[in-house]
Amino acid sequence: MKREPELYLISLIHILGQLKEEVQTYYPNWNFNQGARGFVTYRLDREYGLQEIYEKTITFSLVKGILIEKGEKSYIESLIPETQKKYNTHTIHRWDLVEETGEMGDRKTRGPVIDVIRIDSESYALGVRQQVRGDFAPYTGLSPIPREERAPSLAYHKIGEAFKRFRPLVGHEEVFLDIGCSPGGSAYFLLKNGFRVIGVDTEPLSEEVKEDFPEGFLFLNTNYTNLKTKHLRGLPPVNWIVFDVDTASKAALASLLKLMNKLDECVGLIMTVKLELGFNIHDIRELEEMAKDNGYSEIRKSILPSHDKEFCLFITKAD
Ligand SMILES: C[S@@+](CC[C@H](N)C(=O)[O-])C[C@H]1O[C@@H](n2cnc3c(N)ncnc32)[C@H](O)[C@@H]1O
Repeated sequence: MKREPELYLISLIHILGQLKEEVQTYYPNWNFNQGARGFVTYRLDREYGLQEIYEKTITFSLVKGILIEKGEKSYIESLIPETQKKYNTHTIHRWDLVEETGEMGDRKTRGPVIDVIRIDSESYALGVRQQVRGDFAPYTGLSPIPREERAPSLAYHKIGEAFKRFRPLVGHEEVFLDIGCSPGGSAYFLLKNGFRVIGVDTEPLSEEVKEDFPEGFLFLNTNYTNLKTKHLRGLPPVNWIVFDVDTASKAALASLLKLMNKLDECVGLIMTVKLELGFNIHDIRELEEMAKDNGYSEIRKSILPSHDKEFCLFITKAD
């Protein structure tokens, strides 16, 4: 077994640069060891517990845990029984990063789980991590959200993955203000799940959304920077905001927080932060600080498997 404590992370291939930058910035005592195909390891400055690792927020990783060993398949398999015993694990997840497939174990329980990861044609890794409902697990294809033929854009998957990850406490028929809603993938997801949507966009909405959901949807054909509470007067009160506009994130969050402060029933925001629009790694902290300063107690971030040029920021006032 390994003597030196080592952390493993699984991420999206195209996001490894940002992941390394984030760890270097926020965890400077960890030393990069290996990175390929979405699998990254760091030598840690000391031993960490599974829960402690889980609580370290790393935006650009899908899962993270303690690396037990690396080696050939048969060697890794031979280590599983003692690892199961030592950590009292519930299940095994098998990730094949070469074929981009996987075999899911039980994802419903909270507790320690084993990851067996194929990182190269001949090499495998064995790790243990704390699992919580909503963690991403190995999946086949681009997104763990099943395809919906009528959904007009990939944002259907994006919002579905955000729901899977953050599990927002949303009541039946609650109202989402969907800013940047065109062509309508996220609205399609929200309406299909029984929520009501007020969409905002300068571009038109696709026919599929209008045809499939003749009720429960209102469209404001306007620039969101001009949106004032008076435009929402007389409409059902907004409970959540979804923001998916290709724009710089700090200025956008500042104006969204201003708007949210005036919407009494609004408890949270699901916002995509675009990495190609002047994003700087220090923005992560700044966005968190802005949310905290405005009274948002739960602030979470995650990449979403279907989109590798952005991450999702989730803030809410609910406990
Ligand atoms: C990434 S797309 C959103 C995809 C959408 N959420 C969906 O579910 O299909 C970004 C959208 O933001 C809109 N947009 C850009 N600037 C805007 C602005 N200032 N006000 C309102 N909408 C804007 C664009 O027209 C575009 O439809």
